[in-house]
Amino acid sequence: MINFVQREYILKEEANVLALAKMLVLALQEKNINSLVIFLKGDLGAGKTTFTRGFLNGLAFNGTVKSPTYTLVEPYELQGQQLYHMDLYRLQDEVALEEMGIAEYFQEEAYFLIEWPLENSRILPQPDWVICFHMMAKGRKLNIQAMSEKGNVALQNI
Ligand SMILES: Nc1ncnc2c1ncn2[C@@H]1O[C@H](COP(=O)(O)OP(=O)(O)O)[C@@H](O)[C@H]1O
Ligand SMILES: [Mg+2]
Repeated sequence: MINFVQREYILKEEANVLALAKMLVLALQEKNINSLVIFLKGDLGAGKTTFTRGFLNGLAFNGTVKSPTYTLVEPYELQGQQLYHMDLYRLQDEVALEEMGIAEYFQEEAYFLIEWPLENSRILPQPDWVICFHMMAKGRKLNIQAMSEKGNVALQNI
């Protein structure tokens, strides 16, 4: 049984979430890891989209990050790095996911940040990281769990 790395962060303010996400993406780039599947889990308002915004900031994107609640997928290409932000809240259905052709996205080398991933999905890839967001009286608690060998390497020395 391999024990993959996990990390926990207490983040008092939104700015701390943004800074953490930015630091993580810079670490990935430093390690030349240009594809990673990240599941973002937690209640509405817990900070999943905020985290994605920080991640994008790390790739020098400073525009508006739309929550892809209706579009489901929002693609980005930044500095030659592909990133897909997904929000599957409204599509908790394997057949519908399959019909929209979501599997094709995962053929690419890209960062995938997926809010509301389906549990035990046949169509979504296995995550490299699962990040759980918890609301606290003030701020948020984030837990990052590496779920694969690559995810483990990605989280080492962080
Ligand atoms: N560490 C934090 N402390 C307090 N508020 C936060 C923190 N991080 C994010 N927020 C706020 O919580 C909300 C999170 O919204 P969002 O990121 O859209 O959540 P989700 O995508 O999980 O539904 C935003 O209003 C943001 O300003
Ligand atoms: Mg969101």
